[in-house]
Amino acid sequence: MARFLLISLRNNPLRCISRVQRRPLARQCQSIFQLEHTRFIQKEATHDEDIPGDSSQNKVLSFPDEMKKYTFEDPFQIFEESCTLLKDQPPKRLEFEVGQDIVVYGYIGKRKDMRSNFSFCPFEHKDSKADFQIVSQWDDPDSRQYFAHQNLKAIPSYSPVMVMGTVQESKQTATDPLVEAKGLSKVELKLQYIRCLNTFPKDVAVSKDTVWPAKSRHMQLRFDPFLRDRLFFRTWVKRSLVHILSTQEFLEIETPILFKSTPEGAREFLVPTRRQGYAYALPQSPQQYKQTLMAGGIQRYYQFAKCFRDEDHRADRQPEFTQLDLEMAFATGREVMDLLTMMVTTLFTRLHRHWKIVEINGIRHPVRIKEMVGKRDSLETPASPETGLADEINTPEISNRFPRPKPMTIMTYEDAMGRYGSDKPDLRIELPWASNIYQIGENGKGLPSRFTQMISDLQDPVVEGFRFRLYDSRPSESVKFIREFMDNLPNTTLKIGPESVPGVFVYDSSKPLYGLSALGHDGAEVLNDMEDSWPQCEDGDIIIMHARNDEPLSGGSTELGRIRTALYWAAVKQGLIPENHEFKLLWVHGFPLFSPTGDEVGQGGTAGICSTHHPFTAPLNDEDFKNLKTDPLKVRADHYDLVINGVEIGGGSRRIHVAEVQEYVMRDILKMTDEGVSQFSHLIDALRSGCPPHAGFAIGFDRLISVLLDVPSVRDVIAFPKTNRGEDLLVGSPAKVTPEQKKTYHIFEESDIKPTTE
Ligand code: AMO
Repeated sequence: MARFLLISLRNNPLRCISRVQRRPLARQCQSIFQLEHTRFIQKEATHDEDIPGDSSQNKVLSFPDEMKKYTFEDPFQIFEESCTLLKDQPPKRLEFEVGQDIVVYGYIGKRKDMRSNFSFCPFEHKDSKADFQIVSQWDDPDSRQYFAHQNLKAIPSYSPVMVMGTVQESKQTATDPLVEAKGLSKVELKLQYIRCLNTFPKDVAVSKDTVWPAKSRHMQLRFDPFLRDRLFFRTWVKRSLVHILSTQEFLEIETPILFKSTPEGAREFLVPTRRQGYAYALPQSPQQYKQTLMAGGIQRYYQFAKCFRDEDHRADRQPEFTQLDLEMAFATGREVMDLLTMMVTTLFTRLHRHWKIVEINGIRHPVRIKEMVGKRDSLETPASPETGLADEINTPEISNRFPRPKPMTIMTYEDAMGRYGSDKPDLRIELPWASNIYQIGENGKGLPSRFTQMISDLQDPVVEGFRFRLYDSRPSESVKFIREFMDNLPNTTLKIGPESVPGVFVYDSSKPLYGLSALGHDGAEVLNDMEDSWPQCEDGDIIIMHARNDEPLSGGSTELGRIRTALYWAAVKQGLIPENHEFKLLWVHGFPLFSPTGDEVGQGGTAGICSTHHPFTAPLNDEDFKNLKTDPLKVRADHYDLVINGVEIGGGSRRIHVAEVQEYVMRDILKMTDEGVSQFSHLIDALRSGCPPHAGFAIGFDRLISVLLDVPSVRDVIAFPKTNRGEDLLVGSPAKVTPEQKKTYHIFEESDIKPTTE
């Protein structure tokens, strides 16, 4: 101790003395006291600069000479010590030079004992700036290294630790593909001293690819570096988008989470209160608050908002999800679309500049480009507001940079549904593999009725079809593939209606009528005449036809559209056509303002229709406005969806900003009750106070990240997702209501309610 104080005083007397005066050193903190002095032998690193090595400085680091074996059995002692150990962490290092004595924090991995006096142990550095391996060796049982070795052996694998050691030439040969991809330097640390900061349970088995149950999400986070990287990517994208919005003078405003129940469109979650008969509802989106902000004179608003919807589960849905929500006063829908186009283009340009995609064990994974790590992020390269395009940046050649998107496409809802059978088509599904969907013959009525009756019970239906090609286009291969696909159709999630079945052909020049004999001569002729629509059929081409009612298209997809998408993915999955990792961005606009109510929650009106988006969406133009009364299902909305690779990433619209028109739509068109309309009275009042015209948008942020990372579910990009039953098994939510809570919050179960006697 005396020797240590002397060294410390020599190196930095003032600091040393002040520490001694302020806090008498407890026995267990003696070595910690020494650690504080490591601050003076290390150069401080900032995020933006590398530290030039200066090993002469490092010579003053003195390791504790404590000849003591720890047992790590007293959790209270570990707690006390680790708090103190953390207080004076050394500054961040970005480079580690041979000969340096350093202090690092992180987790030890599974130790390998080579001999009784010699072990290797992987070490996960808390800042992930290098790939560490601890080498522990002793020759003299009275040496510091001997005790450090014993202590290393006593600490359970995967525990968090503080390590002091000397950097030495790395002889590591084993390579972790993720570490390789990140280009982390290998650092070997000769162990001099180690202290445990908490113990990892010895009875928990960890292996490299363990998939932890949802209850142990913290373990998944801890041992799945891919998941952690995805969360890092998510943060990066969020920061990037916030920066873009701040250059466009948007104000970030938080809106309440405890809202009230309104029939906006989705099923809500109620929050009971102690006031009998009263409940909050969680917002399905901040829609009504953001419109109220516009009435309140805010020009441009945004927030990353938590939204809550009690919907059926799907891979791209969570009951609780995040939107990047925005609204603009005095703006048209077109302006909002232009802004979003600029934002997304800028984001992709930055992703291309800063990220690459590395394939590891068949998984495509985002990795920050090394030359950028530690350098200032180029967030100051905004897109030009005039052109909406991000400035071209000089980027050194790296083959697997994050792909740039293809130029944005725009199409109407009618076109999307007609040509792709989907209101969110995946434009990667294209020729030469899949043609668009076409009506067969004029208006889909060109095929002989004897064939149409074979595939459908419908009266005078419209028949549509598309052609599909495999890489190996031998007819026998196509027959095998399509037969298996069709046989499994009922087992897939595809909903094929009972009134029509798909008519399937494989084009084969060696067969009578090229394999189209079910169509007859005249039917085959109709197909031949379609050369303008899809290129001349070749042997092995699969042709699928389907009949539907001769009605305007509605909803999110057609049966043929669902078959086309499923067929494409089945072929990709079996390696029969190549997978396309491009990003295809698309605006779909001109949706119907209303849809038949069907299974939707809707607004509870009696007109048999509900708002396709929400009841605040404005009709597209004058003609649509006029049609409101006479033919509401024909009215198009000034509503636009952003679609990337077949996923609806976001949606928005121009709003009805005049109170009387809003009330007219609710009362006279949707035929909502007085009570239903009164639930929106706050919004109608706000519109009545001279609210300016306004329009907005919301990006489904979880979906955006999952599409950018090409992962199957939004759950893969959320730290604590809910299961498909809406549960968080980690914390056990939702939890059963206790009898006391039932009383406090006036919650009754059916069994609590006594039948009333007449
Ligand atoms: P919309 O309902 O279209 O619009 O939602 C916008 C985007 O949010 C995402 N999203 C979801 N993501 C995960 N889980 C869910 N359950 C879920 N539901 C929706 C989608 C969707 O495109 N207030 C309007 C926006 C506006 O008009 O400005 C709204 O919420 O990516």
